[in-house]
Amino acid sequence: MRNPSSSSSLSFVPAKDGRKPHVSSQAAAAVATPLSEFGREMQAGLARSPRSISPKFFYDAAGSQLFDRICELPEYYPTRTELRILGECAAEIAGQIGPNAEIVEFGAGSLTKVRLLLDALETPKRYLPIDISGEHLEAAAERLKADYPDLAIQPIAADYTMPLVLPAPMAGSGRRVGFFPGSTIGNFEPDEALAFLQLAARMLRGGGLLIGVDLVKDPARLHAAYNDAQGVTAEFNLNLLRRANAELDAGFDLDGFSHAAFYNAPHRRIEMHLVSRRAQSVCLNGQEFAFEEGETIHTEYSHKFTVEGLRALAVRAGFRAGAVWTDPERLFSVHWLAA
Ligand code: AVJ
Repeated sequence: MRNPSSSSSLSFVPAKDGRKPHVSSQAAAAVATPLSEFGREMQAGLARSPRSISPKFFYDAAGSQLFDRICELPEYYPTRTELRILGECAAEIAGQIGPNAEIVEFGAGSLTKVRLLLDALETPKRYLPIDISGEHLEAAAERLKADYPDLAIQPIAADYTMPLVLPAPMAGSGRRVGFFPGSTIGNFEPDEALAFLQLAARMLRGGGLLIGVDLVKDPARLHAAYNDAQGVTAEFNLNLLRRANAELDAGFDLDGFSHAAFYNAPHRRIEMHLVSRRAQSVCLNGQEFAFEEGETIHTEYSHKFTVEGLRALAVRAGFRAGAVWTDPERLFSVHWLAA
């Protein structure tokens, strides 16, 4: 993911002294509508070279549904493998965590994976799911409350990549444990992954982090997971343009772009791009962006790790690397990192 604050020279800049806002590019009419975060980042992303947009914008309502479908695909092994590891190793994981724990989940989404953990833990005390999408989070928290009446559930609507102050531990609580499943850490650039782990280590001092991480493997297997036969991943990727058209009144021709996902072996990452199928120009907020045939918008990195590589990164961030659980094929890993 990219830092949202790294705005380009084309973005909307409100004047500090209360005068008319100024825009450093041409069209003055473009200033009329202040853009949403998505709008600002889309505009900045199209203006830079190479073009890119953060994968966090995949997850509007349609995108979240498409992602749920990805998780069910035969080629997409990470979700089912992680669930299997969490299920089979739950007792051991719960032993590491101990009784009366407070669980902090980063980017909690619909709060499904944590149930496996909660079911195995001895009298978990409190659950603090952090997610940027506040409404979705509240609804999911209500559903969870119904099933775990003894658990204190306190959703926090925030961007977990920013430093944030957690509520003080409850009386009689055990370890404070972070939960970061799904290999979402793979979305970060390497320096961002380190920065996130450093932040987490500070926030969870005295406790630890339980993190799910996808492993380096046969490139053909990785390629298939991001190029499924049914084309759901392609739809997920292209949904970003559909969303831009709907929310930002952008003029993307959805047939003018194709999904591309490939394994960049030297960097050990899947890269997803949207490729312009012909020379074309796209209008966004009064600005024209010209695409050459074959020019791309980079939409996602999904870094893959070795078990040792992840442990070394965690140690650099201030954790002590503890137990690791994997599936028999070593497709995916779940790590206990003591803070
Ligand atoms: C949710 C970021 C872990 O990188 O595998 C799935 C998202 N992108 N298919 C991943 C995703 C394309 C997924 N993460």
